[in-house]
Amino acid sequence: MPYKLLFVCLGNICRSPAAENIMNHLIQQEGLSGQIVCDSAGTSSYHIGSPPDRRMMIAAGDRGIPMQGQARQFSPHDFKEFDLILAMDRENYANICSLDPTGKFKGKTRLMCDFCTEHSLREVPDPYYGGAQGFTHVIDLLMDACNGLLNHVKQELATKTDGLR
Ligand code: 4NP
Repeated sequence: MPYKLLFVCLGNICRSPAAENIMNHLIQQEGLSGQIVCDSAGTSSYHIGSPPDRRMMIAAGDRGIPMQGQARQFSPHDFKEFDLILAMDRENYANICSLDPTGKFKGKTRLMCDFCTEHSLREVPDPYYGGAQGFTHVIDLLMDACNGLLNHVKQELATKTDGLR
């Protein structure tokens, strides 16, 4: 069974698809495709069915990351489906937690920036109403967080394997 990651933002057209595509890029580079799988979703229904925002595609492309995807909305079913749910900001985190009133899945819901090692920001800022620079900043922040997250998941997978011995 692969380790399953779900990245969540508001619209699922800027930050979370960028995180998903960056993470897939890193997973491929490490030869871990099949062992770690990624998806993304939005807490809102605003952009269901839309491709990633063009401005985010350009910023990611500039860093050598091709982007693909189609927006969908986060569903409570995702709590069972995924091993780790990564919220881009505190509002996303609160909206996800509001769909888990008993707190059963609190342990698998985290802020993406918890995995940053080079940046001190606690949230991935919403770039939607800003300029191109905001999108590039999101990519750089997510590169840092995804590298930290990959190390974390590799440790989790190693612990799982140990448990099977
Ligand atoms: P995202 O960015 O949550 O990173 O996908 C946004 C996309 C759309 C909107 C806000 C943020 N919107 O208000 O439509």
